Amino acid sequence: MTTAAARISARGADRWAAGHPWIFRSDVLGHPDAPGICRVLDRRGKCLGTALVSPRSEIRLRFLTAGEPRIDRGWWRQRFAECLAAREGIDANAWRLVHGEGDGLPSLVVDRYDRWLVVQLLSAGLETARADVLDALEDLLAPAGILLRNDVPVRRHEGLPLEVVVARGMVPDQLEVHEGPVRYLVAPRTGQKTGAFLDQRENRLLAGALMPSGGTALDCFAYHGSFALHLAGRAAQVVALDSSADALARARDNAALNRLGNIEWVEADAFAQLRRYERERRRFQFIVVDPPAFAKNRSSVTQALRGYKEINLRAMRLLEPGGLLLTASCSFHLDRARFLAMLADAAADSGRRLTLLHLLGQGRDHPELLTVPETGYLKGALLACRQ
Ligand SMILES: C[S@@+](CC[C@H](N)C(=O)[O-])C[C@H]1O[C@@H](n2cnc3c(N)ncnc32)[C@H](O)[C@@H]1O
Repeated sequence: MTTAAARISARGADRWAAGHPWIFRSDVLGHPDAPGICRVLDRRGKCLGTALVSPRSEIRLRFLTAGEPRIDRGWWRQRFAECLAAREGIDANAWRLVHGEGDGLPSLVVDRYDRWLVVQLLSAGLETARADVLDALEDLLAPAGILLRNDVPVRRHEGLPLEVVVARGMVPDQLEVHEGPVRYLVAPRTGQKTGAFLDQRENRLLAGALMPSGGTALDCFAYHGSFALHLAGRAAQVVALDSSADALARARDNAALNRLGNIEWVEADAFAQLRRYERERRRFQFIVVDPPAFAKNRSSVTQALRGYKEINLRAMRLLEPGGLLLTASCSFHLDRARFLAMLADAAADSGRRLTLLHLLGQGRDHPELLTVPETGYLKGALLACRQ
Protein backbone atom coordinates (compact mmCIF):
# COMPACT_ATOMS: atom_id res chain seq x y z
CA MET A 1 0.00 0.00 0.00
CA THR A 2 1.23 3.48 -0.86
CA THR A 3 1.00 6.19 1.81
CA ALA A 4 0.67 9.19 -0.54
CA ALA A 5 -2.92 10.25 -1.14
CA ALA A 6 -5.00 12.46 -3.41
CA ARG A 7 -8.46 13.80 -2.61
CA ILE A 8 -11.23 14.15 -5.14
CA SER A 9 -14.59 15.89 -5.35
CA ALA A 10 -17.99 14.19 -5.21
CA ARG A 11 -18.24 14.58 -8.99
CA GLY A 12 -14.88 12.82 -9.44
CA ALA A 13 -15.96 10.04 -7.07
CA ASP A 14 -19.22 9.61 -9.03
CA ARG A 15 -17.27 9.31 -12.26
CA TRP A 16 -15.16 6.48 -10.85
CA ALA A 17 -18.25 4.82 -9.35
CA ALA A 18 -19.78 4.90 -12.86
CA GLY A 19 -16.79 3.03 -14.26
CA HIS A 20 -14.53 5.72 -15.71
CA PRO A 21 -10.96 5.76 -14.32
CA TRP A 22 -10.00 9.32 -15.27
CA ILE A 23 -10.22 12.15 -12.74
CA PHE A 24 -9.70 15.58 -14.27
CA ARG A 25 -7.79 18.46 -12.70
CA SER A 26 -11.02 20.29 -11.77
CA ASP A 27 -12.16 17.33 -9.64
CA VAL A 28 -8.93 16.92 -7.72
CA LEU A 29 -8.85 18.75 -4.38
CA GLY A 30 -5.23 17.85 -3.66
CA HIS A 31 -2.60 15.42 -4.85
CA PRO A 32 1.10 14.55 -4.37
CA ASP A 33 3.45 17.00 -6.13
CA ALA A 34 5.42 14.37 -8.02
CA PRO A 35 4.24 11.81 -10.59
CA GLY A 36 3.67 8.36 -9.12
CA ILE A 37 1.03 6.08 -7.67
CA CYS A 38 -1.21 7.11 -4.77
CA ARG A 39 -4.33 6.25 -2.81
CA VAL A 40 -7.41 8.28 -3.70
CA LEU A 41 -9.75 9.53 -0.97
CA ASP A 42 -13.19 11.08 -1.21
CA ARG A 43 -14.05 14.32 0.58
CA ARG A 44 -14.77 12.47 3.81
CA GLY A 45 -11.46 10.60 3.71
CA LYS A 46 -12.83 7.25 2.53
CA CYS A 47 -10.38 5.42 0.26
CA LEU A 48 -11.78 4.84 -3.25
CA GLY A 49 -8.79 3.03 -4.69
CA THR A 50 -5.29 3.50 -6.09
CA ALA A 51 -4.37 5.66 -9.07
CA LEU A 52 -1.57 6.92 -11.27
CA VAL A 53 -0.80 10.61 -10.64
CA SER A 54 0.14 13.01 -13.46
CA PRO A 55 0.66 16.44 -11.84
CA ARG A 56 0.95 18.31 -15.17
CA SER A 57 -1.84 16.64 -17.11
CA GLU A 58 -5.50 17.64 -17.41
CA ILE A 59 -6.16 14.00 -16.51
CA ARG A 60 -4.60 14.21 -13.05
CA LEU A 61 -5.50 10.75 -11.78
CA ARG A 62 -6.10 7.42 -13.51
CA PHE A 63 -7.52 4.70 -11.30
CA LEU A 64 -5.75 1.35 -11.45
CA THR A 65 -7.92 -0.47 -8.92
CA ALA A 66 -10.67 0.05 -6.37
CA GLY A 67 -8.47 -1.59 -3.75
CA GLU A 68 -5.28 -0.52 -1.96
CA PRO A 69 -2.80 -3.24 -2.98
CA ARG A 70 0.93 -2.70 -3.32
CA ILE A 71 1.35 -1.86 -7.01
CA ASP A 72 4.59 -3.74 -7.58
CA ARG A 73 6.02 -6.07 -10.18
CA GLY A 74 3.86 -8.94 -8.88
CA TRP A 75 0.69 -6.85 -9.22
CA TRP A 76 1.52 -5.96 -12.85
CA ARG A 77 2.42 -9.56 -13.62
CA GLN A 78 -0.98 -10.75 -12.37
CA ARG A 79 -2.78 -8.13 -14.52
CA PHE A 80 -0.76 -9.13 -17.59
CA ALA A 81 -1.53 -12.82 -16.98
CA GLU A 82 -5.25 -11.92 -17.02
CA CYS A 83 -4.81 -10.00 -20.28
CA LEU A 84 -3.00 -12.99 -21.77
CA ALA A 85 -5.74 -15.41 -20.73
CA ALA A 86 -8.39 -13.17 -22.36
CA ARG A 87 -6.56 -13.43 -25.70
CA GLU A 88 -6.24 -17.19 -25.84
CA GLY A 89 -7.04 -18.72 -29.22
CA ILE A 90 -6.26 -15.70 -31.42
CA ASP A 91 -5.26 -17.01 -34.85
CA ALA A 92 -2.14 -14.83 -35.14
CA ASN A 93 1.11 -14.18 -33.31
CA ALA A 94 0.77 -10.39 -33.49
CA TRP A 95 -1.88 -8.87 -31.26
CA ARG A 96 -2.43 -6.34 -28.50
CA LEU A 97 -1.75 -7.71 -25.03
CA VAL A 98 -2.77 -4.55 -23.15
CA HIS A 99 -5.29 -2.04 -24.50
CA GLY A 100 -4.93 0.63 -21.80
CA GLU A 101 -8.20 1.57 -20.11
CA GLY A 102 -9.98 -1.25 -21.98
CA ASP A 103 -7.93 -3.71 -19.94
CA GLY A 104 -8.16 -1.66 -16.75
CA LEU A 105 -4.55 -0.50 -17.14
CA PRO A 106 -4.86 3.18 -18.06
CA SER A 107 -2.26 4.76 -20.35
CA LEU A 108 -0.47 1.46 -21.07
CA VAL A 109 -0.25 -0.21 -24.48
CA VAL A 110 1.57 -3.48 -25.03
CA ASP A 111 1.60 -5.03 -28.50
CA ARG A 112 3.01 -8.49 -29.01
CA TYR A 113 4.82 -9.35 -32.23
CA ASP A 114 5.84 -12.99 -31.99
CA ARG A 115 8.76 -12.99 -29.48
CA TRP A 116 8.96 -9.19 -29.23
CA LEU A 117 6.94 -6.62 -27.35
CA VAL A 118 6.31 -2.99 -28.27
CA VAL A 119 5.25 -0.90 -25.28
CA GLN A 120 3.86 2.63 -24.91
CA LEU A 121 3.86 4.39 -21.53
CA LEU A 122 1.44 7.26 -22.01
CA SER A 123 1.28 9.01 -18.64
CA ALA A 124 3.73 10.50 -16.16
CA GLY A 125 2.34 8.32 -13.37
CA LEU A 126 2.85 5.16 -15.39
CA GLU A 127 6.36 6.27 -16.38
CA THR A 128 7.36 6.00 -12.68
CA ALA A 129 6.36 2.29 -12.82
CA ARG A 130 8.45 1.62 -15.95
CA ALA A 131 10.85 -0.85 -14.31
CA ASP A 132 8.08 -2.88 -12.63
CA VAL A 133 6.03 -3.00 -15.85
CA LEU A 134 9.00 -4.18 -17.92
CA ASP A 135 10.12 -6.69 -15.26
CA ALA A 136 6.61 -8.12 -15.06
CA LEU A 137 6.41 -8.50 -18.85
CA GLU A 138 9.79 -10.24 -18.89
CA ASP A 139 8.75 -12.54 -16.04
CA LEU A 140 5.55 -13.58 -17.74
CA LEU A 141 6.52 -13.76 -21.41
CA ALA A 142 10.33 -13.97 -21.59
CA PRO A 143 10.37 -11.84 -24.77
CA ALA A 144 13.45 -11.65 -27.00
CA GLY A 145 13.25 -7.87 -26.72
CA ILE A 146 11.05 -4.98 -25.59
CA LEU A 147 10.88 -1.75 -27.60
CA LEU A 148 9.47 1.42 -26.06
CA ARG A 149 7.59 3.30 -28.82
CA ASN A 150 7.16 6.36 -26.67
CA ASP A 151 7.07 8.71 -29.68
CA VAL A 152 3.39 9.51 -29.18
CA PRO A 153 2.58 13.26 -29.01
CA VAL A 154 0.16 12.72 -26.08
CA ARG A 155 3.24 12.26 -23.87
CA ARG A 156 3.93 15.99 -24.26
CA HIS A 157 0.75 16.77 -22.28
CA GLU A 158 2.30 14.72 -19.50
CA GLY A 159 5.61 16.58 -19.57
CA LEU A 160 7.33 13.46 -20.91
CA PRO A 161 9.94 13.28 -23.71
CA LEU A 162 9.26 11.48 -26.99
CA GLU A 163 11.58 8.51 -27.49
CA VAL A 164 12.02 5.18 -29.24
CA VAL A 165 14.34 2.97 -27.21
CA VAL A 166 15.10 -0.70 -26.78
CA ALA A 167 14.36 -1.29 -23.10
CA ARG A 168 15.21 -4.98 -22.88
CA GLY A 169 17.02 -7.52 -25.07
CA MET A 170 17.33 -6.97 -28.83
CA VAL A 171 14.71 -5.75 -31.28
CA PRO A 172 15.38 -6.04 -35.04
CA ASP A 173 14.31 -3.28 -37.44
CA GLN A 174 11.95 -5.70 -39.14
CA LEU A 175 10.04 -8.68 -37.72
CA GLU A 176 8.04 -11.40 -39.40
CA VAL A 177 4.66 -12.38 -37.97
CA HIS A 178 1.55 -14.20 -39.17
CA GLU A 179 -2.18 -13.51 -39.13
CA GLY A 180 -4.22 -16.57 -40.06
CA PRO A 181 -2.66 -17.84 -43.28
CA VAL A 182 -0.89 -14.55 -44.10
CA ARG A 183 2.72 -13.80 -43.16
CA TYR A 184 3.87 -10.20 -42.98
CA LEU A 185 6.81 -8.01 -42.06
CA VAL A 186 6.50 -5.29 -39.44
CA ALA A 187 8.78 -2.32 -38.81
CA PRO A 188 8.39 -1.79 -35.05
CA ARG A 189 10.70 1.25 -34.83
CA THR A 190 9.47 3.23 -37.81
CA GLY A 191 6.10 1.77 -38.83
CA GLN A 192 2.79 3.51 -38.12
CA LYS A 193 1.32 2.93 -34.63
CA THR A 194 3.54 0.25 -33.03
CA GLY A 195 4.32 -1.20 -36.46
CA ALA A 196 0.95 -2.58 -37.59
CA PHE A 197 -2.78 -1.86 -37.39
CA LEU A 198 -3.53 -4.82 -35.16
CA ASP A 199 -7.07 -3.58 -34.46
CA GLN A 200 -8.30 -4.68 -37.92
CA ARG A 201 -7.04 -8.28 -37.64
CA GLU A 202 -10.48 -9.90 -37.36
CA ASN A 203 -11.88 -7.77 -40.18
CA ARG A 204 -8.96 -8.74 -42.42
CA LEU A 205 -9.60 -12.43 -41.73
CA LEU A 206 -13.29 -11.85 -42.54
CA ALA A 207 -12.38 -10.10 -45.79
CA GLY A 208 -10.12 -12.99 -46.79
CA ALA A 209 -12.91 -15.49 -46.13
CA LEU A 210 -15.58 -13.53 -48.05
CA MET A 211 -13.52 -12.57 -51.10
CA PRO A 212 -15.24 -14.15 -54.13
CA SER A 213 -12.85 -16.58 -55.68
CA GLY A 214 -11.42 -15.34 -58.98
CA GLY A 215 -12.79 -11.81 -58.49
CA THR A 216 -11.13 -8.39 -58.49
CA ALA A 217 -10.46 -6.39 -55.32
CA LEU A 218 -9.39 -2.87 -54.37
CA ASP A 219 -7.67 -2.10 -51.05
CA CYS A 220 -7.71 1.68 -50.42
CA PHE A 221 -5.37 2.96 -47.68
CA ALA A 222 -3.56 -0.38 -47.80
CA TYR A 223 -0.57 0.45 -45.53
CA HIS A 224 1.86 -2.50 -45.84
CA GLY A 225 -0.74 -4.54 -47.68
CA SER A 226 -2.64 -5.91 -44.71
CA PHE A 227 -6.08 -6.41 -46.31
CA ALA A 228 -4.68 -6.92 -49.82
CA LEU A 229 -2.63 -9.95 -48.72
CA HIS A 230 -5.76 -11.62 -47.35
CA LEU A 231 -7.83 -10.77 -50.44
CA ALA A 232 -5.15 -11.92 -52.86
CA GLY A 233 -5.38 -15.50 -51.59
CA ARG A 234 -8.70 -15.91 -53.47
CA ALA A 235 -8.85 -12.95 -55.85
CA ALA A 236 -7.63 -13.08 -59.43
CA GLN A 237 -6.32 -9.51 -59.14
CA VAL A 238 -5.98 -6.97 -56.31
CA VAL A 239 -5.18 -3.28 -56.60
CA ALA A 240 -3.76 -1.86 -53.35
CA LEU A 241 -3.15 1.86 -52.93
CA ASP A 242 -1.57 4.01 -50.28
CA SER A 243 0.22 7.36 -50.18
CA SER A 244 3.18 6.03 -48.18
CA ALA A 245 6.11 4.81 -50.29
CA ASP A 246 7.69 3.32 -47.18
CA ALA A 247 4.61 1.22 -46.37
CA LEU A 248 4.30 0.10 -50.01
CA ALA A 249 7.94 -1.01 -50.13
CA ARG A 250 7.24 -3.36 -47.24
CA ALA A 251 3.94 -4.34 -48.87
CA ARG A 252 5.84 -5.60 -51.93
CA ASP A 253 8.13 -7.64 -49.66
CA ASN A 254 5.03 -8.97 -47.89
CA ALA A 255 3.53 -10.11 -51.20
CA ALA A 256 6.79 -11.91 -52.06
CA LEU A 257 6.85 -13.52 -48.62
CA ASN A 258 3.41 -14.99 -49.35
CA ARG A 259 4.30 -15.86 -52.98
CA LEU A 260 1.51 -13.61 -54.23
CA GLY A 261 2.02 -12.15 -57.71
CA ASN A 262 -1.51 -10.83 -58.24
CA ILE A 263 -1.32 -7.51 -56.36
CA GLU A 264 -0.73 -4.20 -58.14
CA TRP A 265 0.73 -1.64 -55.72
CA VAL A 266 -0.20 1.97 -56.44
CA GLU A 267 1.36 4.92 -54.64
CA ALA A 268 -1.35 7.58 -54.85
CA ASP A 269 -3.79 9.82 -53.07
CA ALA A 270 -6.88 7.66 -52.60
CA PHE A 271 -9.32 10.49 -53.41
CA ALA A 272 -7.65 11.25 -56.74
CA GLN A 273 -7.18 7.59 -57.63
CA LEU A 274 -10.82 6.69 -56.96
CA ARG A 275 -11.93 9.63 -59.13
CA ARG A 276 -9.68 8.26 -61.89
CA TYR A 277 -11.11 4.73 -61.57
CA GLU A 278 -14.62 6.18 -61.74
CA ARG A 279 -13.79 8.01 -64.98
CA GLU A 280 -12.31 4.78 -66.35
CA ARG A 281 -15.47 2.86 -65.26
CA ARG A 282 -13.39 0.30 -63.39
CA ARG A 283 -15.36 -2.20 -61.27
CA PHE A 284 -14.34 -4.39 -58.33
CA GLN A 285 -16.01 -7.24 -56.48
CA PHE A 286 -14.48 -6.40 -53.11
CA ILE A 287 -13.40 -2.95 -51.94
CA VAL A 288 -11.78 -2.02 -48.62
CA VAL A 289 -11.82 1.58 -47.41
CA ASP A 290 -9.74 1.99 -44.23
CA PRO A 291 -8.58 5.63 -44.10
CA PRO A 292 -6.58 7.36 -41.36
CA ALA A 293 -8.57 9.28 -38.72
CA PHE A 294 -9.98 12.27 -40.62
CA ALA A 295 -11.48 13.72 -37.40
CA LYS A 296 -8.59 14.50 -35.06
CA ASN A 297 -10.84 16.35 -32.61
CA ARG A 298 -14.48 17.10 -31.94
CA SER A 299 -14.47 20.35 -33.90
CA SER A 300 -13.23 18.68 -37.10
CA VAL A 301 -16.01 16.05 -37.30
CA THR A 302 -18.17 17.98 -39.78
CA GLN A 303 -15.29 18.46 -42.19
CA ALA A 304 -14.13 14.87 -41.66
CA LEU A 305 -17.61 13.61 -42.55
CA ARG A 306 -17.27 15.25 -45.96
CA GLY A 307 -14.07 13.27 -46.56
CA TYR A 308 -15.60 10.01 -45.34
CA LYS A 309 -18.66 10.53 -47.49
CA GLU A 310 -16.67 11.32 -50.61
CA ILE A 311 -14.38 8.31 -50.33
CA ASN A 312 -17.26 5.92 -49.55
CA LEU A 313 -19.49 7.33 -52.28
CA ARG A 314 -16.77 6.78 -54.85
CA ALA A 315 -16.05 3.27 -53.58
CA MET A 316 -19.77 2.41 -53.79
CA ARG A 317 -19.84 3.50 -57.43
CA LEU A 318 -16.88 1.23 -58.21
CA LEU A 319 -18.61 -1.89 -56.89
CA GLU A 320 -19.80 -4.61 -59.23
CA PRO A 321 -23.43 -5.58 -58.62
CA GLY A 322 -23.22 -8.19 -55.87
CA GLY A 323 -19.88 -6.76 -54.73
CA LEU A 324 -18.83 -6.14 -51.11
CA LEU A 325 -17.57 -2.96 -49.44
CA LEU A 326 -15.72 -3.21 -46.14
CA THR A 327 -15.47 0.33 -44.82
CA ALA A 328 -14.10 1.67 -41.54
CA SER A 329 -13.34 4.78 -39.53
CA CYS A 330 -10.79 4.92 -36.72
CA SER A 331 -11.81 8.43 -35.62
CA PHE A 332 -12.86 8.29 -31.98
CA HIS A 333 -14.71 11.58 -32.45
CA LEU A 334 -16.97 10.13 -35.14
CA ASP A 335 -19.42 7.85 -33.34
CA ARG A 336 -21.11 4.78 -34.81
CA ALA A 337 -24.45 6.48 -35.35
CA ARG A 338 -22.93 9.31 -37.41
CA PHE A 339 -20.70 6.89 -39.29
CA LEU A 340 -23.73 4.81 -40.34
CA ALA A 341 -25.73 7.95 -41.20
CA MET A 342 -22.80 9.08 -43.41
CA LEU A 343 -22.85 5.69 -45.19
CA ALA A 344 -26.62 5.94 -45.76
CA ASP A 345 -26.11 9.44 -47.17
CA ALA A 346 -23.33 8.22 -49.49
CA ALA A 347 -25.45 5.25 -50.59
CA ALA A 348 -28.35 7.56 -51.43
CA ASP A 349 -26.10 9.72 -53.64
CA SER A 350 -24.28 6.79 -55.23
CA GLY A 351 -27.21 5.48 -57.22
CA ARG A 352 -26.46 2.00 -55.83
CA ARG A 353 -28.55 -0.05 -53.41
CA LEU A 354 -26.53 -1.38 -50.50
CA THR A 355 -27.41 -3.72 -47.68
CA LEU A 356 -25.71 -3.83 -44.30
CA LEU A 357 -24.34 -7.35 -43.79
CA HIS A 358 -22.23 -6.81 -40.64
CA LEU A 359 -21.38 -4.06 -38.21
CA LEU A 360 -17.66 -4.20 -37.51
CA GLY A 361 -15.39 -2.99 -34.73
CA GLN A 362 -11.94 -3.51 -33.29
CA GLY A 363 -10.68 -7.02 -32.50
CA ARG A 364 -11.16 -8.60 -29.09
CA ASP A 365 -7.55 -7.82 -28.16
CA HIS A 366 -8.65 -4.13 -28.18
CA PRO A 367 -11.47 -4.44 -25.62
CA GLU A 368 -13.96 -1.60 -25.62
CA LEU A 369 -15.15 -0.85 -22.10
CA LEU A 370 -18.73 0.40 -22.24
CA THR A 371 -18.17 2.86 -19.41
CA VAL A 372 -15.05 4.30 -21.08
CA PRO A 373 -16.05 5.49 -24.57
CA GLU A 374 -12.42 6.44 -25.33
CA THR A 375 -11.51 2.72 -25.49
CA GLY A 376 -13.64 2.24 -28.63
CA TYR A 377 -12.61 4.12 -31.73
CA LEU A 378 -12.75 1.71 -34.66
CA LYS A 379 -16.11 1.21 -36.32
CA GLY A 380 -16.91 -0.34 -39.62
CA ALA A 381 -19.50 -1.95 -41.82
CA LEU A 382 -19.61 -4.66 -44.43
CA LEU A 383 -22.00 -3.65 -47.18
CA ALA A 384 -23.26 -5.61 -50.16
CA CYS A 385 -24.21 -3.92 -53.41
CA ARG A 386 -27.57 -5.20 -54.70
CA GLN A 387 -27.45 -3.37 -58.01
C1 LIG B 1 -5.66 3.22 -40.97
S1 LIG B 1 -4.26 3.06 -41.98
C2 LIG B 1 -4.66 1.66 -42.97
C3 LIG B 1 -4.41 0.38 -42.26
C4 LIG B 1 -4.48 -0.85 -43.12
N1 LIG B 1 -5.74 -0.96 -43.82
C5 LIG B 1 -4.22 -2.08 -42.29
O1 LIG B 1 -5.16 -2.88 -42.06
O2 LIG B 1 -3.08 -2.26 -41.87
C6 LIG B 1 -4.39 4.39 -43.10
C7 LIG B 1 -3.39 4.38 -44.25
O3 LIG B 1 -3.77 5.43 -45.12
C8 LIG B 1 -2.60 5.98 -45.71
N2 LIG B 1 -3.01 7.32 -46.23
C9 LIG B 1 -3.19 8.47 -45.53
N3 LIG B 1 -3.70 9.43 -46.34
C10 LIG B 1 -3.85 8.85 -47.57
C11 LIG B 1 -4.34 9.32 -48.82
N4 LIG B 1 -4.80 10.58 -48.97
N5 LIG B 1 -4.36 8.48 -49.88
C12 LIG B 1 -3.90 7.21 -49.74
N6 LIG B 1 -3.42 6.72 -48.58
C13 LIG B 1 -3.41 7.52 -47.52
C14 LIG B 1 -1.56 5.93 -44.63
O4 LIG B 1 -0.26 5.86 -45.18
C15 LIG B 1 -1.96 4.61 -43.91
O5 LIG B 1 -1.20 3.55 -44.42
